Amino acid sequence: MGSWHIHRAPLIQAELTVPGDKSISHRSAILAGLSNGTCVITGFLPSEDCLCTVSAMRALGVQIEQPEPTTLIVHGRKRQLSAPQGDIDCGNSGTTMRLLAGLLAAQPFRSRLVGDASLSRRPMKRVIDPLTQMGAKLHGEGAKNTPPLVIEGVGTAGSLTPIQYASPVASAQVKSAILLAGLFADGTTSVSEPIQSRNHTERMFEWFQIKATAENLTVSLQGGQTPESRDFKVPGDISSAAFWLVAAAAQPHSSLLVQNVGLNATRTGILDVLLRMGAQVREIVECAEGEPIGSVEIKGGKLKGTEIRGKEIPNVIDELPILAVAGALAQGVTVIADAGELRVKETDRLAAIATNLRAFGVTVNETEDGLEIHGGAPLKGARVQSFGDHRIAMAFAIAGMFAEG
Ligand code: S3P
Repeated sequence: MGSWHIHRAPLIQAELTVPGDKSISHRSAILAGLSNGTCVITGFLPSEDCLCTVSAMRALGVQIEQPEPTTLIVHGRKRQLSAPQGDIDCGNSGTTMRLLAGLLAAQPFRSRLVGDASLSRRPMKRVIDPLTQMGAKLHGEGAKNTPPLVIEGVGTAGSLTPIQYASPVASAQVKSAILLAGLFADGTTSVSEPIQSRNHTERMFEWFQIKATAENLTVSLQGGQTPESRDFKVPGDISSAAFWLVAAAAQPHSSLLVQNVGLNATRTGILDVLLRMGAQVREIVECAEGEPIGSVEIKGGKLKGTEIRGKEIPNVIDELPILAVAGALAQGVTVIADAGELRVKETDRLAAIATNLRAFGVTVNETEDGLEIHGGAPLKGARVQSFGDHRIAMAFAIAGMFAEG
């Protein structure tokens, strides 16, 4: 296990681009793999999580070339996947496991999805329940249906029953798993969610010419459609930009321009929060085809505390660790509520954030589904853990840039 020493940062005055969007990269590999021809994906995020999805698609018979780390040439199988030889390793990636569970539930062969220790603790019942309603046969081998996931094949591809599913949780992974299974069901499948979650699957369906409708909080699609092969450009990941945006926002006179970043409105909640906290934020959408892409300019200021709760939560779900750090750097109290989902991410992020902020000398109350952060006191240098979670590591690296010592 490595350790990093972070020093106090000077004023930030910079322009940068960030690596490709993680959610969109996963989906591009899956849909291109199901398509009826060759698709060139550029801007792909070559992170371990996304490479697990690439390996999984290869294991299912899809030929994928990677001439450079961020380019994939995917030779679609026109929906005809083949049985994997052995287990499919999803590593640390919840998106890989949940989206593939939907896809594999509809195939006429058996598969087994495994993950690392963290993924093996994460809840899968949320996808097992709706897929079972569709007639799929799958279960988690762990306690309470946790991974490994064993998926028995259905009789023939396309023999799932379409459902109208009201998801109890606002989760893009759950929604996408059901929609991917629905592609192989005989009839119209729809998913309603309590709050809008990221809509990359729906947008990517449109890009690959799969007809789906999204009305209010319900997405529906007719089974039997094949994605039309098309090249696709993955935008930069706003969730990666988030760390630098907060670093600049929390320091008066800092300024930062992030270019070529995804600006899908189901992901830009962080910009609204930082604006509310007192940063100057300018968002410029430069291209709205496929996924909106553009630039964000941010100027730092004296931040003030805010409340992040309710409908805003799914939009900032991955940004809450770094927004908690922003709260610690702001004057006054920042409240995060309705965010119980953070307890079932790569680690229990509410507990991890509270532990690490306290190590920096911040007063924090941890509630069942959130945090109350008393910001504004100087941060003191600390030794903190990542808890094996990338977003915790990055959030507290930024905190380190503001600490004395
Ligand atoms: C993701 C959805 C979110 C998010 C995760 C990626 C996706 O998870 O936290 O990092 O790509 O669909 P949930 O669907 O569990 O909210």
